[in-house]
Amino acid sequence: MSQKVTKAVFPVAGLGTRFLPATKAIAKEMLPVVDKPLIQYAVEEAVAAGIDTMIFITSRSKNVIIDHFDKAHELESELEAKNKTELLAILKGIVPPNVSFVFIRQAEALGLGHAVNCARPVIGDEPFAVILPDDMVEDGTRGCMSQMVELFAEKQTSILGVERVNPADTGSYGIVKTPETSEKYAKIDVIVEKPKPEVAPSNLAVVGRYILTPAIFDKIKNTGRGAGGEIQLTDAIADLMKDEDVLAYEFEGKRYDCGAKLGFLVANVELALLNTELKDNFKAYLKDLVSKF
Ligand code: UTP
Repeated sequence: MSQKVTKAVFPVAGLGTRFLPATKAIAKEMLPVVDKPLIQYAVEEAVAAGIDTMIFITSRSKNVIIDHFDKAHELESELEAKNKTELLAILKGIVPPNVSFVFIRQAEALGLGHAVNCARPVIGDEPFAVILPDDMVEDGTRGCMSQMVELFAEKQTSILGVERVNPADTGSYGIVKTPETSEKYAKIDVIVEKPKPEVAPSNLAVVGRYILTPAIFDKIKNTGRGAGGEIQLTDAIADLMKDEDVLAYEFEGKRYDCGAKLGFLVANVELALLNTELKDNFKAYLKDLVSKF
């Protein structure tokens, strides 16, 4: 019987050191791109893919994420009293109907593999999605995870979202090697975490979108510390590949690396240019600014 993806894991327990001091007291995932926090874009992408259970792997400093997805009674009453119906709708839209939110603490930041394993009691024996909110993908239509869920419905095997990166940057990613194909997906032959450019098997990088079968959990349990002394999801996936096919899928859309300052700024500029309310004035401002360079 074919299985459906109904649960998504959002590992948000990392320290976010690249954004210090901004992330000293607030979660990196709450940084806004234009007017929405990164975590909300990620949840909206999951909802668009038909996922109804959102599982957040959090840490001590991330309680603000819990608050963001809670009902804000006082604020809602205030907006109602002032007849601010549009804002009220935006506020209520943060928590869509029929969507459940589960929060699990990762007591120690032992790595992405360890974070994903914290979701095991809630996932059980089902395939599930993993979305890293600091990788934002804008495809202008149904969303990156919807594309992957569609492929999963057909293939019923683990799928990693991948894209070509600058060969000099392989040391920042999990890198895969696949056979040449004209398809958008291919079975992965090799996966390695953060290889230096001179030993990288390709420049096809895993970015923050995964659909995994539950077999990954036993693999993570047996995974020791890898790159950076962390329990790496990539190493567990390499182990999973011995038993099952794992596909790399070159998704449609543009990815913004919002975990890094430059990518975050680029995302803000490009999404502002897509925003109906802002785009005309913002474009005029940018044109004027560029003319002064
Ligand atoms: P990153 O490598 O981006 O680390 O983690 P980070 O802590 O978020 O940011 P920097 O590098 O210090 O600036 C990739 C993803 O894995 C999660 C992070 O929250 C992020 O979404 N993660 C990482 C965990 O949830 N737990 C961990 O132990 C490690």
